[in-house]
Formats: sequence, C-alpha cells, structure tokens
Amino acid sequence: MDADMTDQSNSEIKTGPAGLAGVSTEPGAKKPDPILVADNITRTFGGLTAVDVEHVEIQRGAITALIGPNGAGKTTFFNLLTGFDQPNTGSWSLEGKSLKGVAPYKVARLGMVRTFQLTKVLAKLTVIENMRLGATGQKGERFWAAPFKFLWGAQEQSVTEKADDLLARFLLDKKREDFAGSLSGGQRKLLEMARALMVDPELVMLDEPMAGVNPALKQSLLGHVKSLRDEGRTVLFVEHDMDMVRDISDWVIVMAQGKIVAEGTPAAVMADQRVIDAYLGAHHDTDLSELDEERLEAEVEAEIAQEEDSK
Ligand SMILES: Nc1ncnc2c1ncn2[C@@H]1O[C@H](COP(=O)(O)OP(=O)(O)O)[C@@H](O)[C@H]1O
Ligand SMILES: [Mg+2]
Repeated sequence: MDADMTDQSNSEIKTGPAGLAGVSTEPGAKKPDPILVADNITRTFGGLTAVDVEHVEIQRGAITALIGPNGAGKTTFFNLLTGFDQPNTGSWSLEGKSLKGVAPYKVARLGMVRTFQLTKVLAKLTVIENMRLGATGQKGERFWAAPFKFLWGAQEQSVTEKADDLLARFLLDKKREDFAGSLSGGQRKLLEMARALMVDPELVMLDEPMAGVNPALKQSLLGHVKSLRDEGRTVLFVEHDMDMVRDISDWVIVMAQGKIVAEGTPAAVMADQRVIDAYLGAHHDTDLSELDEERLEAEVEAEIAQEEDSK
C-alpha cells in the first residue's frame, strides 16, 4: 500500500469529509464507496440475541465510530466480522469478497485486521517478537504459544525492517527488546496498533483504543488513528470516550440491544433522539452529557488516586 498511498487518499476527497456528505442517517444507510458490507448478521447466546444487524456499510477511507451502551453487541459484532466468532445467520464481504467462514488470520491477510489485547502469552514476548508475529496475521492463543521461529526464515529481514519502521513511528523503538508485559497501558495500545499494521491492512478495527490510557497519551493515540486515515486506510473503532468520537470520527454508527439504531456525523448522532433513547434505555435517568460527566468524574478520581498512590 505504501507506494500508492498518496494517490489513494487524494481520490477520497470527493464530496466533503471522507465522501459522506449527504448520506442518510437511517440505520443501514447506503454509502458512496463501501469497503465492508454486511447483511442479516445475527448471533445469539442461549436466549439472548447479542447481534441483529440487518444491513450496514462502512465507507472506505473514513473513520467510523461504533458506539452504544454496554452490552449493545459491539465487541461481538467485531468478532463476527473478523472471523473470531461465527454468526447464526448472515453474510458479509470486504471489497466484494465474502468473508463467511474465513479464518481470522486469512481475514487479516485479505486486508481487515482487528487489534487484540496483549494476552498473558504475548506479554512474555518482547516488543519486536510481538511485531514479527503480527506479520503472520492473527492466529489463536495456542498458535502464539507454539515455537514460531520457522515462520520467518528467509523473510526475516524484510519483516524485521517493517517492524522496526513501525516501532519508530509509534515511538516504541526504545522498547524493542523489552517484554511487552512491562509496557504502560498507553504503550500497549500503541503496540497493538503497530502490530496490526504489520499486515498492511486496508481496514483497521480498534476495540476501545483509549481504554486504560492516561490523558497525556490520548492525544498521541488520536494522532495515530488519524494518520491511518491520512494514508488511505479505513478505520472502524469502538469507543466509550465521547470526546474521542467527536474529535476524530467522520461517521458514527449507534448500536443498542444488538441492532443499529442510528447513524450520522458525530454532531447529528449526539443530538439524535433515537440515540438518547438508546442510552436512556440502558442507563436510567441519565443522558449523553451526564454520561460524559460521569466518565470525567471517574477519570479525575482515578488520577487523584494514582497521585496519592505515588506519594
Ligand atoms: N461468549 C458469550 N457468551 C454469552 N453471552 C455473551 C458472550 N459474549 C457476549 N455476550 C453477551 O452479548 C451481549 C453483547 O455483548 P458485547 O458484544 O460484549 O457488548 P458491547 O461490546 O457492546 O459492550 C451482552 O449481553 C453479553 O453479555
Ligand atoms: Mg465491548
């Protein structure tokens, strides 16, 4: 992707920000240039319908936020799209290619990659080892735990060069030989993002990239997410931090009880009665701005507690 990145991003600037001007705010709205399209995706756990998405399109080259109250089905939907979980019904495609039944590491090689958290196994590897594993796409925990030296061999040098370039870009080059488990919360998020880029994905999916990140690192993370779009990639992210959603999203999709209930620009969505209702249904007697305040209070309290601890 690196060589033709600039051409690609230039051609994206068509009809306003990321080509989304004039798109309907109805759930399932058609996009001018969708990279991902999903239909009739359902996933039940026992009697509970966790995901029930009739139709959704993700615009190429845009940053789309997926928001919704806790338990809305956002993470389950991510897992289904990336092959980590199988739906009861539905079909979906990336660049017109069906992803039904495709294993996660193959989905990653086809251009759609999700970040995933540093597991206990990955924490025991060094930062550079984590990056090299990223080049293989994503396999299960058992795979990660297995000896992996055979994986690169002849390709080792180009993989290592790519890894080192990304570590420099994400300001992790000084941590190259450290165990991933020794990184701070924010540095882990950077490593997760850097590792995802090892497969040069067209579509990057981030599940709560700001969770556990201190305010100082948030700005830097925001910049990194924007830079993904600037180089022509598509970003889909789940986030509770409304400031981040407002700051960087071109488009917001709102889920509640497994369904998409609204879509739109950040401003339109945050003023949408259907969205306010969705959050009201989940948190009694609160609204979006109060939720924001609650979150801020919790953050401040956490910071104070941290300072007290360090005294
Ligand atoms: N593996 C599972 N087994 C049973 N229930 C699950 C499982 N994963 C998710 N759920 C349920 O599905 C619903 C959606 O969960 P999730 O996708 O994690 O929501 P979100 O990410 O929006 O908070 C929740 O009610 C959750 O309890
Ligand atoms: Mg979740």
